[in-house]
Amino acid sequence: MQAATKENVEQVLERVSRQFEQAELFYGHGTDNPWDEAVYLVFSALGIPFDCDDNMLQKTLSEDERTRVNALVRERIESRRPVAYLVREAWFAGLPFAVDERVLIPRSPLAELILNEFDPLLERPPARVLDLCTGSGCIGIATALAFPDAEVDLADISAEALILARENIGRHGLEGRVSVHQSDLFASLDGPYDLILCNPPYVSQEEIDELPEEYRHEPALGLHSEDNGLAIPLQILRDAPRYLSEDGLLIMEVGYSHEALAERLPGVPFLWLEFAHGGEGIFALTARQLRDALPLLA
Ligand SMILES: C[S@@+](CC[C@H](N)C(=O)[O-])C[C@H]1O[C@@H](n2cnc3c(N)ncnc32)[C@H](O)[C@@H]1O
Repeated sequence: MQAATKENVEQVLERVSRQFEQAELFYGHGTDNPWDEAVYLVFSALGIPFDCDDNMLQKTLSEDERTRVNALVRERIESRRPVAYLVREAWFAGLPFAVDERVLIPRSPLAELILNEFDPLLERPPARVLDLCTGSGCIGIATALAFPDAEVDLADISAEALILARENIGRHGLEGRVSVHQSDLFASLDGPYDLILCNPPYVSQEEIDELPEEYRHEPALGLHSEDNGLAIPLQILRDAPRYLSEDGLLIMEVGYSHEALAERLPGVPFLWLEFAHGGEGIFALTARQLRDALPLLA
């Protein structure tokens, strides 16, 4: 497409949004339509805050700015890399996180629970929190900011992911209270935790094979789980009771594997949570419920 030589921000947004629409991109990594995707890319590329004044839309782009935006637009369309990786930043619970191909792009509906401080699930603020399968650290870091007295552990098997998690701890000034741990699930962790939050890999290979190209840029380690997606969630259910405090709580996302999990474990009293802003497949189980369910999980 031939672009006008002088464009203001609004014109660029309109053009890029049209280009995205024609390219039939997949949206699922922070936005769900071409206009929002264009805003995400253009504002990030130009360093414009998302809550900027409308006057900013009339600003004319310099030649350098146009070149920068157009290169990113071309790459988004040709390589199908999600915008978050192109601009190295994703938003979760209203907070910015550094991301690249070493971590999944944050998008868990858990953000809504964190922003509501898990009301009404917690009786009191948690003193020790674990974000298991942390990736960029988004869930644990947002939780640490929601509970200023909590100590938070971020754990992941991927040393590469933990480099970014550490960067994000620094970005949010949480070095004293949030720490990273390389661990295969709970293997290198010391409980007990009052709250365990987890968005583990839960996608079967068959489902991965059918995902749009955008997902192929994400680490397979962050998506894939054996046994029809359930192997890792089931192992976490078996191990979690030993790492929870007496009245602790596990909150875990299993996405669209939730039906398969509920069918596999009909005797486990999963509390499936509802979300005002969309999302499904997140359950809560108390430490007591998990301990009672252990014979069913063996
Ligand atoms: C679905 S991603 C979630 C990332 C992040 N919590 C989020 O919500 O954006 C799952 C993460 O689990 C990690 N992971 C995979 N297998 C693991 C294991 N056995 N033990 C610990 N972490 C694991 C992956 O490296 C990946 O970062």
